[in-house]
This record gives sequence, C-alpha cells and structure tokens, in this order.
Amino acid sequence: MNSFLVCVTCLLFLIDGAFLERACSKQDVLDYLNLTKGNEKFTTCRPALDWTHPTIVYFDIYLYGILSMIEKSQIFVPLLWISARWYNERISWDPKDFCGIKKVILPKELLWKPDLYVVEAVEKEDGPLNPYLYITHDGNVTMEDDHKIVSTCTMNVHKFPFDTQTCHITVSSINHSDKEIKLVPASNSSKATQVARESILTQGEWEFLNISVSKEKDIYEGQTYDRIKYTISVRRMPLMHFINFQLPILFFLIVDLASFFIPDRGEKLCFKVTVLLGISVLMLILNDILPSKSHRCPLIATYVIVIFSFMLLSLLETILVIYLINMSSEQDTKRVQRPEDLSSETDKCKGNSSDQICYSGVEAPLESLMLKEIYSKEKMNDMHLLQLILEELQTIKQTLVPHALNAQTGQKYWLGVVKCINRLFFVVYLLSISLFLGFMFREWKVE
Ligand SMILES: *[C@@H]1O[C@H](CO)[C@@H](O)[C@H](O)[C@H]1NC(C)=O
Ligand SMILES: *[C@@H]1O[C@H](CO)[C@@H](O)[C@H](O)[C@H]1NC(C)=O
Ligand SMILES: *[C@@H]1O[C@H](CO)[C@@H](O)[C@H](O)[C@H]1NC(C)=O
Ligand SMILES: *[C@@H]1O[C@H](CO)[C@@H](O)[C@H](O)[C@H]1NC(C)=O
Ligand SMILES: *[C@@H]1O[C@H](CO)[C@@H](O)[C@H](O)[C@H]1NC(C)=O
Repeated sequence: MNSFLVCVTCLLFLIDGAFLERACSKQDVLDYLNLTKGNEKFTTCRPALDWTHPTIVYFDIYLYGILSMIEKSQIFVPLLWISARWYNERISWDPKDFCGIKKVILPKELLWKPDLYVVEAVEKEDGPLNPYLYITHDGNVTMEDDHKIVSTCTMNVHKFPFDTQTCHITVSSINHSDKEIKLVPASNSSKATQVARESILTQGEWEFLNISVSKEKDIYEGQTYDRIKYTISVRRMPLMHFINFQLPILFFLIVDLASFFIPDRGEKLCFKVTVLLGISVLMLILNDILPSKSHRCPLIATYVIVIFSFMLLSLLETILVIYLINMSSEQDTKRVQRPEDLSSETDKCKGNSSDQICYSGVEAPLESLMLKEIYSKEKMNDMHLLQLILEELQTIKQTLVPHALNAQTGQKYWLGVVKCINRLFFVVYLLSISLFLGFMFREWKVE
C-alpha cells in the first residue's frame, strides 16, 4: 500500500516535472544568453570571438517600386526591401534545451548591427523602420527593412522622352573596412531582376528593365571598404510625353504649313504669330521638366527650337511678301498720280497762250471741247477743230495709256515675284522640315 502511494507521488512528480520542462518561454533563451538591455557585450562590439575573423554580411536588395524620378533635381526615389544577414558568434543555444525554440525576435537595440549606408542617399530616413532582428539558434541574425531611399542619380535626358536611365544604389559600411566586414551580395543580377519584376508595385511613368549587381572595393585613407553596387535600369514610357508635347508641336507645324494657303495676307500674319505664341507656351512646359545643367543639348530642345525657327522664318517670309506687295502698289499709285501733276502743268500752258492747248490730264475730252468752243469760236473752222480734237486725243493716249499699262505690268510683275517666292519657300520649307523630322526621329530611335 505504502509502496503504491510512493509510486503514485513519484508518477505525479514526474508528470509535473515533464509539464514544467515543456513550459519554456523565449525569455528563458534570453536569460540563458544573458541578452538584456544594456549588456554591452552584445551591443558595442562586432560579434566575433577572434577579432581577425571578418563578419560576413550577406546583403540583398529587392526593388518593389519606383516612387519618383525627378529630372530637374536628378533625384531617384526607389522603394527597396533590404535584408542583411550575418553570423553572431556569441549567440547559440540548443533548441532541445528550450522546447525546440529555434528562433527569437528581438528589438534592434539589444544587438550589434553592421553600420551600412547607401552612398547615394541624400535624405535621412524618416519613416518607421522595422524595429526587430530575427535570430536563429545557430547565431544567424537577420535584419530586414523597407526603405524609401531618396538618392541622387545622374540622369541623361539627351533622348528625352525616349530615354533609358541607369541609377546606382551603392551599399557600404561606414566604419568597418573589409578586414572587419565583408559584404557579399546574396542574390545575383538575374535573381534580383526576376524578384523585382515579380514584386514591383508602382513604377509611375517608368518601365523597370533590370538590376545588375556588382561588388566593388573603395579605398579610403589607406583602408579598403567593401561595396555592393546595384545598377537599376529603367526606361521611360514616352506615350504621355509624346501626346502632351511632341504631337502638339507637330500639329502647330502642320497648321503653319496649311497657313500658306490662306489668301488674305494680313490674316495669315496674325495666324502665324498665334501659332508661334502657342509653341512658346509649350516651351515653358519643357523648362519645368529638363534639368538646367545638361552635358549635351537634349534632342527635344533641338526639336522645339528648330521648329520654332522654321515657323519664325515662315513668318518673316510672310512679312517680306506683304512688304513687297505694299511697295509695288505704292509705286503704282505714284504712277497713277503723275498725270495729275502734268495736268497742273497744262494749267500753266493755258495761262500762257489761249491758242496753244496742251491738254494731257485725266479730264474728259468733252470738257476740253467746250473750252475750245468758248475760246475760239470765231477763229476756227470745223476742220481745224476736228484736227485739234485728234491731236488732243493722241496726246491723251500718249500720256495716259503707257502709264496705265506700266502700272498694270508692274503690279503683275511683283505679284509674279511674290508667287514665285511663296512657292519656292513652301517647297524648301516642306523639304527641310521633312528632312529635319526624319533626322530627329531617327536620332531618338537609335539606342
Ligand atoms: C550570464 O551571466 C551570469 C552572471 O551574470 C553568468 O554566471 C553566466 O555564465 C552568463 N552566461 C553566459 C552564457 O554568458
Ligand atoms: C545560418 O547561416 C549559415 C551560413 O550562412 C547557414 O549554413 C545556416 O543554414 C543558417 N542557419 C539557419 C537556421 O538558417
Ligand atoms: C563611423 O564613421 C562616422 C562617419 O565617417 C564617424 O562620424 C563615426 O565617428 C565613426 N564611428 C566610429 C566608431 O569610428
Ligand atoms: C543566379 O542565382 C541563381 C540562384 O540564386 C542561379 O540559379 C543562377 O545560375 C545564378 N546566375 C548566375 C549568372 O550566376
Ligand atoms: C539591363 O538593361 C540595360 C538597358 O537595356 C542593358 O544595357 C544592360 O546590359 C542590362 N543588364 C543586364 C544585366 O541585363
């Protein structure tokens, strides 16, 4: 009986013990490791028991978005998921002792972290970062973060808007040379590209092409530092820029070409000036996009400026034509006016002698006839009168008709010249514009 009781208590103790042993928390792991806040053993020094052992940091970047890309200020803002993994030689526990706990999650402040930074970053991170580290029983520590990195990127807008940009994200340690921290890219170019393609959420007007990963060394003050360089290639999707900018300019150009067929020259002038104003408004938009400092003149600037100059030339041609026509018509009016001057001379003649009548004005011959009748009714017979009329008519013919003819041929001549200039200009204009546009689009297409 007694032995039976002892056995039962024994069993109860055993069961109790088994239950006690199974109920273990992650705190037990931390207690075992002495991992407490303020334990400088874990926070200050690189976790290598032998200081000549470099800490190998496996580093990885996944691009999951392109937030913006500002050509004007050469700023590139990618969304990156960054992960770094290293081995902490001070941490290890046997999962069997802790009910199979293989992994704990700890606040970042408790452990040492590599001092990684992005070389191109221009702004400190202000969003909340992941406050935890992931620690495995064999001492692997993983740090994962979402970053919105505001970085510089030298953009080449020569081919805007058909351009491809490559921006770099270079990661390095600030204080540890490659003898202390070895940076190793965890995934190669093809994997990084594939992952980015699968996970990209937003890319705005950009189309993600690829990421290439390369390892570099940076020598600074006699020490070499490991660097991992990610080169992100993106291509602009040009449709909206084409519709918003190049197409309207092309339309303006076509309208300008069509204005050659407007018959009224004054209206034509107004029209061309309006078209030029329209283009200058579009040029303001361009000013907002392109960086003010550029090594090569962007093709789009050449495009706008050359088309603007073409239109300016056609405007000047219209002005020239108007000037020529005005000049010729002025000459004509002068010529028409000249006979009146002559008639005033004839007044003088009239005063000198009543016999000698030197009519050559525009006045009707009927008037002169009446005058003659008044002056020389008695003196002259009919024959003489008729002869006078004949002479008079001849003088009128000689003085008037050649001028009128001259005026008409003069104006005709000038009109011909203007027509010729117009046609020639139109052909040259059309030809040079087609050549220029062909050249432009070929330049844009060339990789
Ligand atoms: C933790 O610290 C205690 C004393 O504070 C020490 O006895 C123990 O050995 C330490 N454990 C480890 C794993 O360093
Ligand atoms: C820890 O890292 C080492 C080397 O990188 C690896 O072989 C091991 O599988 C990792 N441990 C775990 C639990 O992932
Ligand atoms: C690490 O580098 C930064 C910048 O170069 C410097 O300000 C800081 O003092 C360095 N820290 C140590 C521990 O050397
Ligand atoms: C990149 O890594 C993957 C596995 O991560 C591998 O299958 C592939 O062969 C690697 N490619 C190159 C070019 O090294
Ligand atoms: C990435 O794309 C760019 C542009 O198309 C190309 O020049 C480069 O060779 C590509 N890189 C890789 C690793 O495929």
